[in-house]
Amino acid sequence: MAQENKSYIPGKTGSSNRNVAFRVAEAYKMIRTNLLFTLANAKSKVVIFSSAEPSAGKSTLCSNLAIVMAQTGAKVLLIDADMRKPVQHRNFRVSKSLGLSKILGNLNTFEECVVRNVVPGLDLLPSGSIPPNPSELLGSDKMKSLLDKAEEVYDYIFMDSPPLAVVADALVLAPQSAGVVLVARQKQTTYDELEECIESVKRIDAAVLGVVVTDVHATSAGYMRYDSKYYYRSYNYEYGRRAKSDD
Ligand SMILES: Nc1ncnc2c1ncn2[C@@H]1O[C@H](COP(=O)(O)OP(=O)(O)O)[C@@H](O)[C@H]1O
Ligand SMILES: [Mg+2]
Repeated sequence: MAQENKSYIPGKTGSSNRNVAFRVAEAYKMIRTNLLFTLANAKSKVVIFSSAEPSAGKSTLCSNLAIVMAQTGAKVLLIDADMRKPVQHRNFRVSKSLGLSKILGNLNTFEECVVRNVVPGLDLLPSGSIPPNPSELLGSDKMKSLLDKAEEVYDYIFMDSPPLAVVADALVLAPQSAGVVLVARQKQTTYDELEECIESVKRIDAAVLGVVVTDVHATSAGYMRYDSKYYYRSYNYEYGRRAKSDD
């Protein structure tokens, strides 16, 4: 998109909110419901989380959504596929050194790297130590077979990925997945950036499963638009709580 459009995802600053924890939990459950419907007839169990820019809230959304998915009794695998800027090992307080990059580099097996039941029903595959060639590794046959095997065992496989405007890692895997959940942050992500992401996913015939807007303040919640291709919804959570803080 050539034209300059600096209109940001809208929102007004809300008053401080005592019920925020409750509303955060409700927001995740609402997203879970949408995702469950969307995935009901999907050809794959793999869901990719990405955004245009860094710090949109993908990792936070991805891990919390994985937890609420597991709470339904589903068996969930969370893969930290952001091998450049991994955070999920910190969220769940485990080491990142054994993980995805090691499996893809033929250094370790999945069994050696996966961390079972970081919360009940949720297994975590950390990033592994940062490799020099993440895109290449993610596009490899080894990655495809890892996902094929995981699909035999898990009900849902969530992949935390880098931002699309920075590297194309997420897109390498998108055609093999059920689709991409795009994360946009209020007052940070521009409509142009979001549109560009949607276009790049569509260009490779992958699906945009939905767009989740993060950091939405109370007074602007409820704005919602559906169309045939994706849903756009403002979710009302001012602070994306992590399951376990890495503070
Ligand atoms: N919904 C939210 N509201 C406010 N802050 C958030 C929200 N989600 C994430 N954050 C914060 O924003 C920062 C970036 O979040 P993160 O999930 O790591 O983003 P990304 O994975 O897109 O880079 C973190 O400090 C995180 O705690
Ligand atoms: Mg991240």
